[in-house]
Amino acid sequence: MLIRHPSDIKPSEITAESVYRERRRFLGLAAAGLAAATAGGLLLPRPALPALPGRFDNLRPGPYSSGETPNSYEDVTRYNNFYEFGTGKEDPARYAGMLKTDPWSVTVDGEVEQPGRYTLEDIIKPHALEERIYRLRCVEAWSMVIPWVGFPLGDLLQRFRPTSRAKYVAFTTLHDPEQMPGQRRAILDWPYVEGLRMDEAMHPLTLLAVGLYGQALPNQSGAPLRLVVPWKYGFKSIKSIVRISLTEQMPPTSWNRSAAHEYGFYANVNPAVDHPRWSQKRERRIGELRKRETLPFNGYGEQVASLYNGMDLGKWF
Ligand code: MTE
Repeated sequence: MLIRHPSDIKPSEITAESVYRERRRFLGLAAAGLAAATAGGLLLPRPALPALPGRFDNLRPGPYSSGETPNSYEDVTRYNNFYEFGTGKEDPARYAGMLKTDPWSVTVDGEVEQPGRYTLEDIIKPHALEERIYRLRCVEAWSMVIPWVGFPLGDLLQRFRPTSRAKYVAFTTLHDPEQMPGQRRAILDWPYVEGLRMDEAMHPLTLLAVGLYGQALPNQSGAPLRLVVPWKYGFKSIKSIVRISLTEQMPPTSWNRSAAHEYGFYANVNPAVDHPRWSQKRERRIGELRKRETLPFNGYGEQVASLYNGMDLGKWF
């Protein structure tokens, strides 16, 4: 078994919160570039699977981390969208505990030379895990800052050798109405599906997350494996992934299927393109009263704007 859940962890196994927070403060400084010189290339031992089960140790700070203060663990894990467990923001925290995430396997298929069904361990183990503090901007005009634990999706895809026909990557969430009561109602066309263009999927900012706040993902956050694409609206960040398919054609996406005029395939955070029913110019950071200006590409434009050179982002929203 690869990752135990926080509820399985004995108190003696858990890094003291003060130690953890101090380490994270250091990671934050490093991420902000302030510790770049002293971090010595961050010659921390190669991290990876939790030394103490459930708690990832020696995470190195990943590139592109936001220098902002993360939202609290409570905010991040109690205010969620995961319609498989209900449409209320607190429903996932309340009901996602019923999801069994061990054993877990992921099917990788389509335009790859090495298709197969892989255990979660097969998927994660070869990768060094990093902590990356990213902004998440929801299409509903709220945002959070979250310290993710994960590794670049592109590194995983490379391992399965995409063919030259691979133009897109399609993702699928588990479909099991027994465990996911929201799937018993036709809120969305289940299972939840998402997609990225190949260059977006290979971009080093795109993360497969296995944890947050230094420990394994709680179920409501998409355990055991979820996507994080920080320059796109939160709905692109599909949770509890069981299938990754490389395709030649643009794959369907759940929100586009349900309301194509409201949710496009690209879903890049864009204050200049309003949602048909509300403005996207500003956002409410959870925990703050005053609204913030929304930044193009959620503030990651320097890294990703070039992916869309020559595209009309009003048309390809
Ligand atoms: N993935 C699945 N399978 N089901 C969902 O309902 N909601 C999406 C996305 N991934 C969703 C999902 C939406 S709308 C958002 S804003 C983010 O998850 C929220 O992620 P968070 O709850 O970790 O903040």
